[in-house]
Amino acid sequence: MPIQQFNVRSVRNLADVSFTPSPQINIIHGVNGSGKSSLLEAVHLLGLCRSFRTNKLNHLIRAGDTSCTVFAELDAMGSGMAQPLGVERSLEGDNRMRYAGNDIDLTTLAELLPIQVINSETFQILEGSPAIRRQFIDWGVFHSDPTFIRLWRAFRRVLKQRNSLLKYGKIDHRIRAVWDREFVSYAEQLNTLRESYIELLKPEFDEILSTLLDGMKVDLSFSAGWDKKRTLDQVLEEGFERDARQGYTSAGPQRADLRLKVDGHTASERLSRGQKKVVVSALKLAQGVLFYKLNSRSCIYLIDDLPSELDQHHCRLFCNYLEKAASQCFITCVDHTSLSDYWSPETELSFLKLHEGALSTQQ
Ligand SMILES: Nc1ncnc2c1ncn2[C@@H]1O[C@H](COP(=O)(O)OP(=O)(O)O)[C@@H](O)[C@H]1O
Ligand SMILES: [Mg+2]
Repeated sequence: MPIQQFNVRSVRNLADVSFTPSPQINIIHGVNGSGKSSLLEAVHLLGLCRSFRTNKLNHLIRAGDTSCTVFAELDAMGSGMAQPLGVERSLEGDNRMRYAGNDIDLTTLAELLPIQVINSETFQILEGSPAIRRQFIDWGVFHSDPTFIRLWRAFRRVLKQRNSLLKYGKIDHRIRAVWDREFVSYAEQLNTLRESYIELLKPEFDEILSTLLDGMKVDLSFSAGWDKKRTLDQVLEEGFERDARQGYTSAGPQRADLRLKVDGHTASERLSRGQKKVVVSALKLAQGVLFYKLNSRSCIYLIDDLPSELDQHHCRLFCNYLEKAASQCFITCVDHTSLSDYWSPETELSFLKLHEGALSTQQ
């Protein structure tokens, strides 16, 4: 039961909103502009200290206010012992994150509250750039392996160094050899973690998709970012002239990708818009199910305007899986009746109606 008490102050049009969420399904409804997406944004702020819609603080913080805060009683590990978690951001750029009476950093925050977002942007996983798919993979790796974040930071540092050497032009081959050795070492470790994660994710995805996509097969595979028939040493060596001309490293984990194919064709070119949404939903659900299996606790789903993303049939199937993933979900919609019938009688359902940035008692 992760978030037990929730308070939002000065996030967009939400001046001061408090409620006790259901440990399972929370359906947030209200007319357009009532603050539904803002409420999801506030939960996201609590888990990641940032919005999923904007990087601009003056948009996130309520007009006329100088800071916004989100606060919750959080039972992060499902131990039955809730602790206070608070995040504050000010227009001046100060961030404050506190858990159980102590200041915490971003990594600790992200570990405490694993968040999955599904909104119209999420569908970029299929159509968008590889960076979006790497982000998807790395969410999973971050939450399944505690060594990932250190490794990822070390790799980024070496990559940056190597790229600046390449831009600089003349490189002593001994210096290059030192950087390349480090680059290869971090790259291979990072790659192993990503590969292992996708190996675990694949069966979950296949199973969910076989129900959601009426038997249509989508083949999920991982691409490391370099030609795996050769060692990364060789690839770097052979690509050096080109890298030096371009001023950046063209092979390595910074080019990793997730491939989705239907009958050997790229899924984004083969599937209908609706089918793509189903595939992306299956990817997100698979991550939640796997997270639960690996960590014995569940992640939080923020799902913006579910009925507009999936048709009734798929919406129902999707909701069945959300229940199975045992996650705490915050789902928005305009008309709550569209989502009322999809749940089993045991599921704890909570309806929250928003009206002009405040909770309405009339449901
Ligand atoms: N920084 C802000 N300060 C005050 N109001 C804002 C701010 N940013 C957006 N809004 C307003 O908040 C309202 C709620 O937006 P939103 O949460 O997207 O609504 P919904 O998802 O319910 O359609 C909108 O009317 C929007 O104009
Ligand atoms: Mg909205």
